[in-house]
Amino acid sequence: MTVISSSLDDERLFISRQAGGRFLYKIYFLVFLTGIVSLLYYRVTNIAYDHPVLWFLITLAEFWFGVTWFLQQGFRWAPTYHVEYPERLAESNLPPIDVLVCTADPDREPPSIVANTLLSLMSYDYDVNKLSYYISDDGGSQLTFHAVYLASVFAKSWLPFCKKYNVEPRSPKVYFSSSSTSSPSGQNFRQECDKIKAKFEKMQERIEKAGKMRNVPVEIRNEHKGFKEWDTKIDPRDHDSIIEVLLRGNGVDKDDEGNPMPSLIYVSREKRPTSHHRFKAGALNALNRVSALISNAPLVINVDCDMYSNNSQALRHAVCYFLDPKESHRIGYVQFPQSFGGITQSDLYGNGVKRIYEIEFFGTNAHNGPMYAGTGTIHRRESLNGRKYDPNVKIKFEDKSVRGSKNWVELEVQAKLVTTCTYEEGKPWGSEMGLMYGSAVEDVYTGLVLHSRGWNSIFCSPERKAFLGLAPVNTNDTLIQHKRWSTGLLEIFLSDYCPMSLANLFGDGKLKLGQIMCYSFYTLWALWCLPMLIYAVVPPLAMVNGISLFPKVSNPWFRIFIFLGISSHAFSLAELMLAKGTFQMWWNETRMWMLKGTSSYLFSVMVTILKALGISESGFEITSKVIDEEALKRYNKEMMEFAVASPMFIPPTTLSLLNLYCLVRTVVSLVTATVMSNNLEEAEPNTSLGVSNPLALVLQIIISGYISIVSLPIYKAMFLRMDKGRMPTSVTVYSIGLCATLVYLASVFM
Ligand SMILES: *[C@@H]1O[C@H](CO)[C@@H](O)[C@H](O)[C@H]1NC(C)=O
Repeated sequence: MTVISSSLDDERLFISRQAGGRFLYKIYFLVFLTGIVSLLYYRVTNIAYDHPVLWFLITLAEFWFGVTWFLQQGFRWAPTYHVEYPERLAESNLPPIDVLVCTADPDREPPSIVANTLLSLMSYDYDVNKLSYYISDDGGSQLTFHAVYLASVFAKSWLPFCKKYNVEPRSPKVYFSSSSTSSPSGQNFRQECDKIKAKFEKMQERIEKAGKMRNVPVEIRNEHKGFKEWDTKIDPRDHDSIIEVLLRGNGVDKDDEGNPMPSLIYVSREKRPTSHHRFKAGALNALNRVSALISNAPLVINVDCDMYSNNSQALRHAVCYFLDPKESHRIGYVQFPQSFGGITQSDLYGNGVKRIYEIEFFGTNAHNGPMYAGTGTIHRRESLNGRKYDPNVKIKFEDKSVRGSKNWVELEVQAKLVTTCTYEEGKPWGSEMGLMYGSAVEDVYTGLVLHSRGWNSIFCSPERKAFLGLAPVNTNDTLIQHKRWSTGLLEIFLSDYCPMSLANLFGDGKLKLGQIMCYSFYTLWALWCLPMLIYAVVPPLAMVNGISLFPKVSNPWFRIFIFLGISSHAFSLAELMLAKGTFQMWWNETRMWMLKGTSSYLFSVMVTILKALGISESGFEITSKVIDEEALKRYNKEMMEFAVASPMFIPPTTLSLLNLYCLVRTVVSLVTATVMSNNLEEAEPNTSLGVSNPLALVLQIIISGYISIVSLPIYKAMFLRMDKGRMPTSVTVYSIGLCATLVYLASVFM
């Protein structure tokens, strides 16, 4: 680190500091690395010539465990924390920001959620004249438009109320449903609060009523010309562009107290069944163009419609990085963590993603910065739109935003032209500009491209979380979400921007080594399925057939396996505990990791192979944000929800049955054999298992035992539970059949 002169120090808007305890970590790193290398050495020097295939598979699995462990150290090497100083920002210097919000489906993403998210974002503590809001509705839904319209009306009371009493959080739904302890007291406040609350409830009611009727009442339709668009029925996959200005900024529209409002524009881009709409990436690129036309702020933030702002200061924190006198010129985007409300106490499905956002992303700060996570991200418009970072040019932060009075009618017409299906034809959108096309996780892909153009990113995580969203609340949705992510990530690894490309490894690629490791770890997520599947299938089947694949207890190499097994688990547990996790959280996370490994990741590898062979196309499955009451009760009791006969469940249920069966059968045979030989006072060298020494099976017993303990909720769901969330009988029957087939095949071929 260079020494910074103290005068500059006072002007800095953020500082960075590395995590302590690096020396201890490095010792652990060396010891563990030695362990992995020795294990592989043991495998290579102890080839099982009588079972070469089994030997090869298990060695491959251990090799891959080793590789992923190594890649993961990219996150562990030097976690770096930033602290911002928003109080040092000069009010007049705040840059304009365009806020882009995406929604896609009024049934899975209820309009009332969209309205509340929008209201929370509109009430940021920031100069409203510098904020413009754009909402993309890929569902082309009148119900969503209705909710956004009502939000724009309610905002006129909500914004001044928030500013006056400095309320937090600024999602009205969350604010009014929590017994807001931090609220100011006093007669005036109470009266006003009750009044606003009544207005809010009226709005909620209207949104919900329209949702039930699937239609908007005439008296509201007459309030805004925009509703005319739905005079004829609109097919979400086949319609013209709809652009509606709901609030005009620049002092035209005023709130209830006469202060200016920010602009708010509803966009539903043109859709035709014949042209590819590119999912969320396409929607964001359309918003990018509309916002460039109308306000063209130098910074754009995109937020998912289900992530409300929980911190009205968040924009100021992010702006610190873009205005910092020393380092701002290299920063392409700032990423906030995704945090989730409604996570159960021990995070049943591991969806709190604590490990990613409270551990790993800080590690990326030490390299070029975090991945782009698709929501809660502020981009410099220039970097997003194709500009390359040039270390020799210390670009000043340029504000080219469009202000002053506007011809709104004319702007609506122009905005329609940039949101047609054909607009992007022959233009660099999706390849050089905007969000990148070609991966189901367009966000990570786009971030990688920005890093490859030389930009750095920043992980910004103020104490009070900037955004709170909704995570999937059942097993199937969680597994499907991870299938989509890991498929998309694998697509990135196979793309031109592969983090391990020769240019990155040996040439003039812009990624640093640590960054290559981090990106490779994520983009190769799906390949976890390989070692997990092997470890869940090969050792137990070998075990029931009396084949030992590991050193026996008395062999010194045995200790290497035990050491690696225990210390890797202990490390991940300790790490989570340091991030304020609990043992139970870690246990749930481990279980989900194994479930994902044998389900989501396995399916995504298969999808990728099928796609490469031209057999199927990967789509974009949105996970639902709706849950019924009974299921919610079970969720809060932390009972795993299965309920649907999903193919995603079949591999994990089969493997959990297989391990339990092999474990029980092996232990029973070993015990019987021991008892018999004792009784007969006669050493029987070959038991029914064909193993001369049961001690040679200890590691396999441990592995299957571990898998069985992790699988306890699955056994319960299959055989003991009676509630609706239990495992559907068809899944159980399939798994038993598959398990029996595997056992039979192994007995024939091993
Ligand atoms: C959300 O904001 C409230 C205050 O408005 C705060 O008490 C709470 O801790 C925040 N939640 C998170 C997860 O930071």
